[in-house]
Amino acid sequence: METGKPSRTALRVAIRRAAHQIADPPPVLDDPIALRLIGPGYENDLERAMHPVGRDFRAFMAARSRYAEDNLGSAVAAGVRQYVVLGAGLDTFAYRNPFPHLHVFEVDFPATQEWKRSLLADAVIPIPDSLTFVPLDFEHKALADGLRESGLDLSAPAFFSWLGVAPYLTLDAFRSTIRTVAQFPAGSGITLDYAFPPASLSPKRRAIFDRLAERVAAAGEPFQLFLTPEQAETELRNAGFNRIEQVDHDGLNDLYFNGRADGLKLSPVGIGMLATAWV
Ligand SMILES: C[S@@+](CC[C@H](N)C(=O)[O-])C[C@H]1O[C@@H](n2cnc3c(N)ncnc32)[C@H](O)[C@@H]1O
Repeated sequence: METGKPSRTALRVAIRRAAHQIADPPPVLDDPIALRLIGPGYENDLERAMHPVGRDFRAFMAARSRYAEDNLGSAVAAGVRQYVVLGAGLDTFAYRNPFPHLHVFEVDFPATQEWKRSLLADAVIPIPDSLTFVPLDFEHKALADGLRESGLDLSAPAFFSWLGVAPYLTLDAFRSTIRTVAQFPAGSGITLDYAFPPASLSPKRRAIFDRLAERVAAAGEPFQLFLTPEQAETELRNAGFNRIEQVDHDGLNDLYFNGRADGLKLSPVGIGMLATAWV
């Protein structure tokens, strides 16, 4: 990550979600803001992301957000009224929040947030009263302090999403974040994704991983944290979570891609996995 510069991987992911809205009707993640937020100037990137070769990647980007938002829905139904989007990038949930009593906290690098706010202003997307920005670097500031200072009630349950962020962190920052979340009251939870260790991948998966790793490193945001499903389970248990669910590409296909007329689904060669952990 270049100091003081907005995240370039956040833009890449947002372009994939926007492309999904156009190329894959009906979208797995219905996000009418995705395209507006990116704004003009990225037509070529969108075109590329809509190409059949990019189908799997954009479907995964949409599915992981949908999965997090579905888990958020369960948390809200059980009474949760605080949602923390960790490493929010250009996530748009806060601007289409359907839950009248849910307050959203977007946590990210200050530079990424400033850039997002300028994109929101350019696209004339209002910042709702139910949203608070929390500028914070996971490597340098305790999450609980940042959230407390921003008005989040640490004594009330909260749901967290942490998508596309863990692979960029150190193990220390990862552990300190999941420990913080696990200290929230019962009913709290987190959906996150993580990358498998490269050495554990089959040659086909390894080739996909190497291409992606090269691209994110060139964007100044190299992968540095890898976990096996067993390690992820152990990390989350040791942090204090009670119930852990893990979903791979097959599981996401069962949840979101069955019976589509266009045949859209995730290929089974995932290079990472999603997990949801509940307190
Ligand atoms: C690949 S993007 C994913 C963005 C968003 N979660 C999504 O799914 O669209 C990674 C995000 O993590 C943020 N990030 C990475 N390292 C971080 C750190 N140490 N502290 C705060 N944010 C960080 C980046 O600024 C970026 O917004």
